Parts: sequence; structure tokens; C-alpha cells
Amino acid sequence: MGIEDILMSDESLFQNINAFDPDYFPPNFNYRDTQMEALAMSIRPALRGGQPSNAVVLGSPATGKTTSIRKVFELVEKSSDKVVCLYINCQLHTTRFGIFSQIYKKLFGHIPPETGVPFSRIYDQIMKELQKKEKALVVALDDINYLFQSKNADKVVYDLLRAYEEYPGVKASIFAIMSDLEFKYSFDKNVNTVFIPQEILFPLYTYSEIEGILRDRVKAGFFPNVLSDEILEQIAMYTEENGDLRVGINLLRSCGNIAEADASREITQVHFEKALESLVSVNIVESLKSLNDSERYILRMVADNEGMYNAGELSKIFKEKTGSSYASFNRALDKLEFVRLVDTKYTGKGVKGNAREIILRFNPDDYAI
Ligand SMILES: Nc1ncnc2c1ncn2[C@@H]1O[C@H](COP(=O)(O)OP(=O)(O)O)[C@@H](O)[C@H]1O
Ligand SMILES: [Mg+2]
Repeated sequence: MGIEDILMSDESLFQNINAFDPDYFPPNFNYRDTQMEALAMSIRPALRGGQPSNAVVLGSPATGKTTSIRKVFELVEKSSDKVVCLYINCQLHTTRFGIFSQIYKKLFGHIPPETGVPFSRIYDQIMKELQKKEKALVVALDDINYLFQSKNADKVVYDLLRAYEEYPGVKASIFAIMSDLEFKYSFDKNVNTVFIPQEILFPLYTYSEIEGILRDRVKAGFFPNVLSDEILEQIAMYTEENGDLRVGINLLRSCGNIAEADASREITQVHFEKALESLVSVNIVESLKSLNDSERYILRMVADNEGMYNAGELSKIFKEKTGSSYASFNRALDKLEFVRLVDTKYTGKGVKGNAREIILRFNPDDYAI
């Protein structure tokens, strides 16, 4: 098939190609009822003029946190005008001014002027509006780790939760969403006295849940009979092993694109394998980018001497060549294993029987290390 045919052909396997986009809002959203109920319970008091409660929403990437919050917020706003629910992506809005501008926009319909207006004025207008309209405010700070990085998390949380002291009757609460448990307790002491959250946990999806979610996505995205059950199961298995639903959704799209470029009316095993190959190679390139000098040096040693030395022997050579400690060798090796560039395996050999073999997980001739 020539390039023109590829570009011009009307035939498509995709019924709705947006079904594989990162911001696609799945109409069928299952397995998160418990968590969504907990979120709703936190907001509920506000529907009757009371104080909504705070929550920390915790779970690995792609466990449905963002989608659940957005669904619940949508339902709340549909059923009551007593609560203003605002979702904020902290990767996009990292300053105190930026976040309060979003709140301002939600209340007044436009963002405040970026210059010439002091923060205190915007804050004052927001709080007076909430007082006047007797509305509660629930703010979801998604991926709040970015706010810790910009050192604004404490200020924002404090400003919102202590507003009632200066503006009696203001009821605000915060949902802090994070993928990394490390951030759970990193608030300032002052903030910990006002931010007493309920924890809502999002566990990893099981294999059958992953398969169910991907099956729904296939139905929404492809025409019937484009993807067989066998391939869907292989994609679900790969997704479960890699722990992230986004991998599965991307694989589906990529399978579709490859099959389409091949002018095929269905996705075959060959298309799936090609999609997998390109995904794996993207991941390897990403992992390689994340290495520091000594990790890269060790990886090169492994690649140049494949199968010749075990971990102990290699760490000795590393120490002789660079003067670095065994501990730093082990740290680097752990990192290489964590980013899935190598596997290590106990061989039962060595002095204490704990020698580890290092196995490269990619072909070093295909990549620049
Ligand atoms: N239960 C589910 N049903 C359907 N799609 C889901 C489900 N959970 C997650 N997804 C999809 O997986 C991707 C990641 O979900 P998201 O809510 O962004 O996760 P998180 O915020 O935890 O990283 C999105 O494309 C979302 O549509
Ligand atoms: Mg998210």
C-alpha cells in the first residue's frame, strides 16, 4: 500500500479513535463504586449546608483516581447548587496564584487579570462570594506531588482550610490525590492540624478487571470483530504484568494503527507483536534516558561482557575501575533492574551460594547505551 493510499483510504478499523485518548471519559466505569461512594460521603454534608470533609486519595498510576473524582464531581454538581466542585491538575497549575485563579474562574466565569491585582484581593473576592451565596467549596488537587515540588502545597491547603477564621461560614475541603505514598505525610505541622483527611485507597486492578475494562474500550473504539478474544487476552496479560492500564489502552490503539496501515480488516497476531515491539523499544529508550553516569557505566560493563561475570565479580571490577563502593554498585544495579533493563537471578553458586547472574533484557546492538 502506497503512502497516498494510507492517507486517503476511507476504510477504518476505528469506530471512535478518541476512545483510546488519555482524556477519554469512559461511559462505562466499573470497579470503583466503593471509592466513589467514599468520595460522595465526604461531600454529602455540604449538600445540607454542612461542612464537607477532607480526603487523601491514594493509588498507583492508572487506577482510576482522576476519572473517579471527575465522575463524582459531575454528579454532585448536577444534583445540587450548594456545592462548588473544582478539579485542579497540579501539573498544570503549580502556584498559589494559579490555583486561586482557577477557583476565581469557577465562581465568576473568567480568570482574574494576571497583573496588577494582589493575591489578597482575589482571595477576598472568592471568600466573600462563597459567604454570600452560602456555597461550600470542594477542591481536588490532582497529582499534588507537583505542589510539594513547587513548595506551594502547604500554603494552598492552609489558605483554603483556614479561610473560615477570617470569613465565618465559609466551608471548604480538599481532596489531595497522589500516586506516591511518600507524600502522604509531608505536610507542614500547621497544616496537619487543619487537614485531617480520610484515606481513600485505589488498589491495582486485577486481571479480570483489566480484561473487562479493555474489552469495553475495544467495543467503544473498534468496529465489531476487529480484535479477537485471544489477542485481547494477551494484551490484558501484558498490561497486568506491567501494572498500568494505560499500557493496555495504548497497545490497543497501536494495534489498530498497524493493522490499518497494513490494509487489514482485523488485528492479527503479527500486528499485535509489532505493536508490542515498538512499545518495548520506546520503554527501553525511556529507561536508558533515566540513567546517571555510574548506572550507565555498569550497564555498559554488563553489555560488553554478557554472561561472563556475576554481580559480585562485576562489582569488584567496578570498584577497581572507579573507586566507588560496593553499596553504590548495588544501588545502581537495583535501579537497572527497577527500570527493567536487566534481570538478576540467584544461581546458587559463589562462596555463600548467593552469587547473582545479571541478564540483559534487550539487545545492546539495537540501542546506544
Ligand atoms: N474502571 C475503569 N473503567 C474504564 N476505564 C478506566 C477505569 N479506570 C481507569 N480507566 C482508564 O485508565 C486510564 C487512567 O485512569 P485515571 O483515572 O487517569 O487514573 P489515575 O488518575 O489513577 O492515574 C484512563 O484512560 C481511564 O479512562
Ligand atoms: Mg490521575
